[in-house]
Amino acid sequence: MASFILLKALILCTVSATQVLGQSCPCGYKDSSGHVWREAIVSTFTQAAGALAAVNADWIIATDFEGQGGTSTADIQYVTANVFQHQDALGLKASAYDNSGSVKCAEIFTKRSDILYGSFRMQAQVPSVPGVVFGFFTYISDTQEQDIEFLSSDSDYYQHLYYTNQPGTVNGDVDPQAAKNVEIPGADFTTFGVHRFDWLPAATTYSYAGTSDSGASITSSTTITKNVPTTPSEFILNVWSNGDPQFSKGPPVADAIATVQYVHLYFNSTTLSASSFSTQCNAAGNIAPCSV
Ligand SMILES: *[C@@H]1O[C@H](CO)[C@@H](O)[C@H](O)[C@H]1NC(C)=O
Repeated sequence: MASFILLKALILCTVSATQVLGQSCPCGYKDSSGHVWREAIVSTFTQAAGALAAVNADWIIATDFEGQGGTSTADIQYVTANVFQHQDALGLKASAYDNSGSVKCAEIFTKRSDILYGSFRMQAQVPSVPGVVFGFFTYISDTQEQDIEFLSSDSDYYQHLYYTNQPGTVNGDVDPQAAKNVEIPGADFTTFGVHRFDWLPAATTYSYAGTSDSGASITSSTTITKNVPTTPSEFILNVWSNGDPQFSKGPPVADAIATVQYVHLYFNSTTLSASSFSTQCNAAGNIAPCSV
């Protein structure tokens, strides 16, 4: 009986979550800080149609080759096959290195490159095989970029992350105003947690909400006001290694996989102007924005 009630509660929960995700929001999305965003890309990689259907709807799978630079010891070859259905979610993989000179890696980027400010979240599990970088970031150039990165070679990789508004260095040294190296004691990124950043004109606020290794909930937030991007951008997720002993380390000796259950991007763009959005919302009777 108890388990039947629990099952019913689960089904109700699932149905209402799907309705929120599927609902149209002509007056935009209001986040927990009260900011309103005009548009959304909601990628539910756990959906019945499969993770790749959600990828194909809004993202492009990278096939770029990135040759060695600096102190790297291998090239990067992004390959379609490394973006795959994995355990009811999306897998992004850097393959076990085969000594061919290039590491097979995974990257998806949004079809859109007109994203300007927003609130970006993913629920994911980090790779635990050493020697790769897992990134969740906006990008349009090397100086208009804001990143969450996880380095699987860190001994405390499951509670350590790197928040950077690029460039993260000044004269070759880490710029502590632009690059924050954050440890979240007790966090366990190998369980599914929510990593997020909110991009506003004056600041990027990076945050984490998940569970501790003892199962308690845990949150953390870090704001960077330097080098906040001002240019419309793409959104990117990737897992890569170039064998650089100073950063990615590796290449990995076994497949290193990030598992992503969802990515929710709520944002403004240069394509849907404030006035067009206002017209759209008026036409819908100025209903309340969806809460996100
Ligand atoms: C995003 O768009 C909304 C609605 O047009 C606007 O109120 C808000 O100021 C915009 N946010 C930013 C950071 O530009």
